[in-house]
Amino acid sequence: MGSGKKKMPFLKRARTKTAIQYNAFMGLVVRVLLARVLPHQKLKKYDLTGKNAIVTGSNTGLGKAMAMHLAQMNATVYLACRNLTKAEVARSDILKSAPTATVHVLPLDTSTLEDCRRFCADWAADGGKTIDILMHNAGVGCPPTPDAIYGPDGFEHLYMTNFLSNVLLTSLLEGYLASDARIVMTSSPGAFVGGVTNDFALASPKNAMEAGFNYKKGQKVTNSILYSNGKLMQVCLARMLTHKYRAEGKDIAVHAYTPGYTASEFFDKKGVAASTLKSDIIWFFLRTGVKFAMSPEEAGKKKTGVFLATDHTQKVADKGGYLFERMKPMVSGVDLYDDDILDRLWNRWCADAGIQWDHLPVEGSPKPSGDPPTEKSEDL
Ligand SMILES: NC(=O)c1ccc[n+]([C@@H]2O[C@H](COP(=O)([O-])OP(=O)(O)OC[C@H]3O[C@@H](n4cnc5c(N)ncnc54)[C@H](OP(=O)(O)O)[C@@H]3O)[C@@H](O)[C@H]2O)c1
Repeated sequence: MGSGKKKMPFLKRARTKTAIQYNAFMGLVVRVLLARVLPHQKLKKYDLTGKNAIVTGSNTGLGKAMAMHLAQMNATVYLACRNLTKAEVARSDILKSAPTATVHVLPLDTSTLEDCRRFCADWAADGGKTIDILMHNAGVGCPPTPDAIYGPDGFEHLYMTNFLSNVLLTSLLEGYLASDARIVMTSSPGAFVGGVTNDFALASPKNAMEAGFNYKKGQKVTNSILYSNGKLMQVCLARMLTHKYRAEGKDIAVHAYTPGYTASEFFDKKGVAASTLKSDIIWFFLRTGVKFAMSPEEAGKKKTGVFLATDHTQKVADKGGYLFERMKPMVSGVDLYDDDILDRLWNRWCADAGIQWDHLPVEGSPKPSGDPPTEKSEDL
């Protein structure tokens, strides 16, 4: 593995930081309030006949809305969900809107490494079909109970459920990805405020929260902060996978995106719903203002996730490894990171997931095209 030491020049770093702060303000404040009135985006309707799409956490909310769009485009859609009763209801709702579609329900609980491994083993045992679209969407804003900070594997619950599962599932399903597959992670404006330092451990500290990795040093640890760091790591993973697949000469594109403020079950979950101004100001603000949010169906019409999963134009593929918002690549925390931090993150994720997963050194490997931090966002 490489340990590139190239540092970002001071001025470029300062400009990037300013752009991220601007995006954080716009993402967390302005776009939250305006979510419903911002216009719907135009999405080309592709024919996805013969294509297989896996969408995690698709029994409700944004995942269900995206699965519905993919089914309406004739993809064979796999709803990978932990609650099979809810998933069967979602399946029949999707079939009402796309009667000729093929929709399957598969059990998946992203909160444990074991169940992610079992899911991939089942996929292989069931014939190992080619995966054209892999959407990592399952996510929560709080642990199942306030004292269940760590999951069964000893990792902080939100890190495991919302992020580390993305690493393990992608690595174990990699052999089944189509040569032009699309991998899409549902991230969040939290990715603008998350952050890691360059001195976190490379071995897995279990049942412990690590300053600099789980949250920024000196920051009060709240669920929304832990959530934001996982959402930033999704963008880092998209960036690293983009390096990897370009270096391997593959046409696989990997993106992260923010869906927009959506009144889904996310804000009803106990820990988020019980947040107070004192305990977690961001969750308090977002759950209180949920009347301004879009319904999941409206959010589905904003379409950035489906756009990234289905658009195969070169200009979109060239922006693999970026955080997209409203169909545009944005400057985010990953654009601040030197190659050695990304390399260290990769090694840590692999240690946590218990996998050997090689990538070429970041330094010298092909980068996403363009010069990222010139603008706050970029028109395609
Ligand atoms: N809502 C927003 O404003 C917003 C903004 C930015 C990003 N996001 C992100 O968007 C994604 C979808 O959220 P949403 O708003 O649609 O919320 P949601 O309606 O609560 O949907 C979340 C989905 O993830 C599933 N899930 C949670 N934990 C899981 C686990 N351990 N294993 C498998 N599935 C699990 C949920 O299943 P259950 O039904 O069984 O709980 C549900 O299907 C999340 O990643 C979230 O972080 C949401």
